Amino acid sequence: MKSLYREPERREELAWGALEFHDVFRIYRSGPAETVALRGLELRIEPREFVAVFGPSGSGKSTMLRLAAGLEQPSAGEVRALGVSLGRLDDSGLSDYRAGRLALVLQSGNLWPELTARENVELAVRLAGRKGDAGAALAAFGLEHAAGRRAGILSGGEQQRVAIAAAAAREAPLVLADEPTAELDEENEALVLDALRSLRDDHGSTVVTVTHSPRVAEAVDRVIEIRDGRVA
Ligand SMILES: Nc1ncnc2c1ncn2[C@@H]1O[C@H](COP(=O)(O)OP(=O)(O)OP(=O)(O)O)[C@@H](O)[C@H]1O
Ligand SMILES: [Mg+2]
Repeated sequence: MKSLYREPERREELAWGALEFHDVFRIYRSGPAETVALRGLELRIEPREFVAVFGPSGSGKSTMLRLAAGLEQPSAGEVRALGVSLGRLDDSGLSDYRAGRLALVLQSGNLWPELTARENVELAVRLAGRKGDAGAALAAFGLEHAAGRRAGILSGGEQQRVAIAAAAAREAPLVLADEPTAELDEENEALVLDALRSLRDDHGSTVVTVTHSPRVAEAVDRVIEIRDGRVA
């Protein structure tokens, strides 16, 4: 299936944001204790935006990403991704969304360590039901030398770029990253940022990255600051 974002020809395809939160609450309960992780979050990210989500520890950034990824449901309110209200999807719809439309990049552990970089990208492409060229994607991110090596022995920065190359090969229209550079030095952080930007520039993806790094915040189109479960 072709991404709507490649050729937004019809007006209604432009009528929705790539990611929208409407008055979203997420409350965690354990016994009598209650944590309000999101309290009335309102957010709209446009197609092809490159956005950083910034904010203090515990402000709800990762919770926001888990809801956007359909891994958790909101306690109240609506989350829309790529024009679809995630609450309306059944299990198979959610799996299709996660496997076919979304790429998640976490701080680490994004790859199958026993597979080579190339096999990682090929498997991600196959699971997404696509036909992307793994070798070309790795080359585009300067990873030719890594293609035949086991992912588990690559450097942290290389592993993150392999995960991003997989998102590119899958043509994931929405890329969500949670502190993707937290374990990297400045040089590797810059390479990963370039890779994320090229997902937007060369593949038309919408890229949302949670970060504590001021360098990441400087590199994006827009910074959204979250405090106490809502946009500051
Ligand atoms: N599964 C859970 N059960 C109970 N409380 C949770 C759960 N997940 C998150 N929380 C709480 O919700 C709040 C928001 O957590 P979240 O992980 O979204 O913060 P964050 O902004 O990503 O923080 P950090 O910058 O440290 O990663 C915190 O108070 C956290 O303790
Ligand atoms: Mg977090």
